[in-house]
Amino acid sequence: MHILGIDIGGSGIKGAPVDIETGELLAERLRIKTPKKGEPEPIAEVVNQIAQSFKWDGPIGIGFPAPIKAGVTLMAANVSEKWVGTNADALFTKITGCDCTMINDADAAGLAEMAFGAGRGQPGTVIMVTLGTGIGSAIFHRGQLLPNTELGHLEIDGEDAEFRASAVAREREKLSWSKYAKRLNKYLKTLEKLFWPNLFIIGGGISKDSEKFLPLLTIETHVIPAKLLNEAGIVGAALGAKGIH
Ligand code: BGC
Repeated sequence: MHILGIDIGGSGIKGAPVDIETGELLAERLRIKTPKKGEPEPIAEVVNQIAQSFKWDGPIGIGFPAPIKAGVTLMAANVSEKWVGTNADALFTKITGCDCTMINDADAAGLAEMAFGAGRGQPGTVIMVTLGTGIGSAIFHRGQLLPNTELGHLEIDGEDAEFRASAVAREREKLSWSKYAKRLNKYLKTLEKLFWPNLFIIGGGISKDSEKFLPLLTIETHVIPAKLLNEAGIVGAALGAKGIH
């Protein structure tokens, strides 16, 4: 089955048709800049533009950086406030004329890694953590996703964890890799104490530099980088639309 996967981020909106049995992209992905204020309708127009460029009229799966329940966006940490309470599935379906299903971006990346990447065949509890503008999380037990976990917003030392340990926090504070590894270690240690996972998978753009910080971590749990890198969001969004979770 083929589904158009779309990954909405703060700077870019990326999409490609996906073969959800193999996890392969069926065409080169298209990336369009995220409209300035990141509001619902202009973003939906970009999604429509991507769908049209692939002459798409089938189902579309869309990953978005917020918790989503029954198609409704529930919170806005790094996106426009206008998303809160928006029925995103209905808005995207109206504008594209295709059947659209929205899913949290980290849940999407996790689904893709569990099906085709670093988490494939991993039993027990797996926590996927995406490090980008924010911190996204996806928890799996025996391959089953517990959606919308939002563990980037755990409070650590009186602050939102993502404010101190996201990839953007490293850039903003110009942290060395060793200083950043300490921050990430503290974050993962907190998750470790709460969930006792069997495996952490680290995703997000920063995972391409994983050899610079993963070896510096001292937590007990095995930590590995994501495998699908910037394709995970697109592939997982497509899987989300099929309801493979
Ligand atoms: C959002 C999450 C999202 C994560 C990664 C957080 O700020 O609340 O929904 O998964 O960023 O994009």
